[in-house]
Amino acid sequence: MQIVFGIDFGTTNSALSVYRNGTVEVVAVDDNDGAGELMRSVLYFNEENEIYVGQEAIHHYVSDGAAGRFMQSIKTFLPNSSFDSTEVFGRRYTIDDLVAIILRKIKTRGEAYVGCPVESVVLGRPVVFSTDAVKDAMAEKRLENAARKSGFKNIWFQYEPIAAALAFEETLQAGQERTVFIGDFGGGTSDFSVIRVKGGAFSRSDRRSDVLSLGGVYVAGDKFDSQIMWDKVAYHFGRYARYKTMGKDDWVGIPKSIIYTLCQWHRIPLLRARKTRELIRVVKGTTDSRQAIENLENIINDNFGFFLFQAIEKTKCELSGQEQALISFTDRNLCINEELGKSEFETLNAENFQQVANCIDEVIARSGLMPAQIDTVSLTGGTSRIPYIQNLFAKRFGRDKLENRDAFTSVVHGLGSSVPLFTNPSGY
Ligand SMILES: Nc1ncnc2c1ncn2[C@@H]1O[C@H](COP(=O)(O)OP(=O)(O)OP(=O)(O)O)[C@@H](O)[C@H]1O
Ligand SMILES: [Mg+2]
Repeated sequence: MQIVFGIDFGTTNSALSVYRNGTVEVVAVDDNDGAGELMRSVLYFNEENEIYVGQEAIHHYVSDGAAGRFMQSIKTFLPNSSFDSTEVFGRRYTIDDLVAIILRKIKTRGEAYVGCPVESVVLGRPVVFSTDAVKDAMAEKRLENAARKSGFKNIWFQYEPIAAALAFEETLQAGQERTVFIGDFGGGTSDFSVIRVKGGAFSRSDRRSDVLSLGGVYVAGDKFDSQIMWDKVAYHFGRYARYKTMGKDDWVGIPKSIIYTLCQWHRIPLLRARKTRELIRVVKGTTDSRQAIENLENIINDNFGFFLFQAIEKTKCELSGQEQALISFTDRNLCINEELGKSEFETLNAENFQQVANCIDEVIARSGLMPAQIDTVSLTGGTSRIPYIQNLFAKRFGRDKLENRDAFTSVVHGLGSSVPLFTNPSGY
């Protein structure tokens, strides 16, 4: 009996499917999570170098008072050539070591479910890890190395939006044909494809000729969170702080690069570099915003970026269902209460939304079809819940064509459905 896993290693969430005897099922992967199906793609190292994954990582991070090292959005580092490894409490981990820890956990969970070892996997990948071809290839190679380190021997890759299309295809009746625009809006990337699907085909033949176009952009959920941080929250951490450099009487602004790094929370630990700490100490000496600079020092030293960004993310998600929400966060002397309206959120992110819109238009244009020739728009991924994103499609295709697939499992389901494409490519 052939068993192959499908793993969607996501920027925010990861998921597992099992392909066996021609059927696919999505398997709960994080037993510590009430919902269970998904696992947060996070790692936590405590000072004894014990490593936890998913909900367990969040749990230990919280109960240890954020003492250890917490990592999230690790997928984002895959195409980053300047980030090769990191030291955690005296041990060095390459990026593929870190990813392998997550994949191994998922593999173990899947093997416990099926009751035997499994050495084959179809991994999802975004259409564009990076617009730089060299970095893109490096990202895929790192993911492949991670899968190998976690114990897989046969490793295939499928584009995430194609996987979502295959999941959509399975909902069609036999013989029913559709040309569909797939939009997968995740935490790190938004990925698109225009593809022909047909009910009953169950992906058992080479589908390349059905893919009319593919594209993606590095703007998704994390970027929207960062933007909220930048515009609504960063001033609490010195975004507008000024200071006087040695011996001079002129005010200068705090380097934007510090605030920029602060706004991408998975990069906050980089601010622990000695040079940056020294600079912040200098700023603190003369600044006109002492409290804000103390807050900046605290977020770097005390590692509470995760909780702050959770508050921001929560507000963002609330704005998918209501007009107004509150960003609320407290820590020691810091008390943040910022109202954010849906239209303000949309204005702050105008440039980000424009990049997404441009990419959608390019993918439509490259398909050679007019929007009217596309039958259905199928949206998936957590970020597809944002009304503005829904409207981008309603404007182009009409609201009637919009379908919302299961936001979090259609990609992983489709990875399972992709298995015959790789193991039995010659056809039926
Ligand atoms: N209701 C909502 N409104 C807006 N955003 C949401 C909502 N629910 C979840 N999200 C966002 O969706 C993202 C996670 O979605 P998903 O699990 O599809 O991403 P992922 O697969 O981990 O990422 P990627 O595919 O980019 O690697 C997060 O940024 C989260 O904040
Ligand atoms: Mg995804």
